Amino acid sequence: MKLLVTGGAGYVGSVCAATLVEAGHEVTIIDNFSTGNREAVPAQATLVEGDVANVVGDVLGQGGFDGVVHFAARSLVGESVAMPAEYWQHNVVTTLTLLEAMRANDVSNLVFSSTAATYGEPEEVPITESMPTQPTNPYGASKLAIDYMITSYAKAYGFGATSLRYFNVAGAYGEIGENREVETHLIPIILQVALGHRDKIFIFGDDWDTVDGTAVRDYIHVRDLADAHLLALEANVSGEHRIFNLGSGDGYSVKQVIETCREVTGHPIPAEVAPRRAGDPATLIASSAKIKSQLGWNPTRTDLHTIVSDAWAFTSQLGDRAHSAQRIK
Ligand code: UFG
Repeated sequence: MKLLVTGGAGYVGSVCAATLVEAGHEVTIIDNFSTGNREAVPAQATLVEGDVANVVGDVLGQGGFDGVVHFAARSLVGESVAMPAEYWQHNVVTTLTLLEAMRANDVSNLVFSSTAATYGEPEEVPITESMPTQPTNPYGASKLAIDYMITSYAKAYGFGATSLRYFNVAGAYGEIGENREVETHLIPIILQVALGHRDKIFIFGDDWDTVDGTAVRDYIHVRDLADAHLLALEANVSGEHRIFNLGSGDGYSVKQVIETCREVTGHPIPAEVAPRRAGDPATLIASSAKIKSQLGWNPTRTDLHTIVSDAWAFTSQLGDRAHSAQRIK
């Protein structure tokens, strides 16, 4: 297939773009490098640098595209609370522009990168796709609003679409891993301690109602996640919008993640308990039964040890190159 990948220089987008290229697809990437990395763009892909909203009409207007995988978005919960306008603009408005460009150019096969944040604080775990969607921040709300748009485009205009709701994506695929200017995610931050770029990891709360008092999350390997996009693209049916959760079905506490990182890196990784982070739920665990049964998704790397080992192989080879050599307090 000839595919457009928006946000294909970002962490998840670039692993997915590499996976699509390896599977023999012709990939064009749009990225403005606001958070993405040039080194992460697969050499075989065509790169168009710019904002999706500005360039997507011209790109799809070249013709011949069979589908779109849409990653480009703002994706930080805390930032979305402080700057909601950015999230409505860059997530919702930009996606509407993308959908209109698809409609104008008869491209109707879409895979959308969504999030567990659409569910908000779950009433029970594991979370299935039929549970209530009550996002607790503008990030989750913006992704949910896009789902409503996509559903209506499937019904009215015959789009065949899939939204994939990711839980906690981690790990690396070869040369591609988590490499952000400002890092907020648990595993890369712990590995920065092991690298000597930070003194310690702060545990945001140890008084949650969980196995050891620290928050529990469902970690999914980024390469297993990429496989799901490929399956969805091939399975999309005109007129239908399907929604699938993507996680491992296992929950690990912050303390368990730190312990696994100690085992993998051999570093003592000092930890200190700090106050809870605003907006964090205690436990998020996915049920991925639906995508396994309907699309035959079969994750092979989604155990925490493999995820951390792959992330560490990537982070430790980054050395001084990309992670700032400055120490972060
Ligand atoms: N945490 C710490 N210390 C840190 C960083 C994180 O204790 O320095 C804790 C957090 O409080 C949380 C857990 O580790 O309990 C995981 O935090 P992350 O920031 O790695 O991930 P989140 O669960 O907050 O969010 C991620 C994505 C969201 C997505 C969500 C869905 O960033 O986009 O997973 O599960 F919505």
